[in-house]
Amino acid sequence: MDIADQLETHAHQELDHALAVSKQLDYFGAYPVHEPKSVQVSEKNEDMLWFDLQAEDETVRNYRERIRQAQELGEFALAEVLQEIVRQEQDHQIDLATALGVVPDDRQRQGQGPGAASAS
Ligand SMILES: [Fe+2]
Ligand SMILES: [Fe+2]
Repeated sequence: MDIADQLETHAHQELDHALAVSKQLDYFGAYPVHEPKSVQVSEKNEDMLWFDLQAEDETVRNYRERIRQAQELGEFALAEVLQEIVRQEQDHQIDLATALGVVPDDRQRQGQGPGAASAS
């Protein structure tokens, strides 16, 4: 599967994530109060892949924190829903990192990407 096909698959999965999270919000009778983050864009394809990968990195970090919080609160169904989502987000990291030729785990990828200081 080429990267364009992978990105199309990611887009469908992201919609599924939004629907899964909205079902959980319905369960709790809650309404989202946060504004979506703005999307970083570039004319360079490689930079766009990096921005997408960095967004996935942040997403994975945030879901890990939310899973821990849900477990601490005893909200195990929510934690399970979020665990399935973070598993897919890590797959997105793998696809993007593979396309860029870097490691998927951002904790092992410090100092790489657009804007990173170049090694001399
Ligand atoms: Fe997602
Ligand atoms: Fe994703």
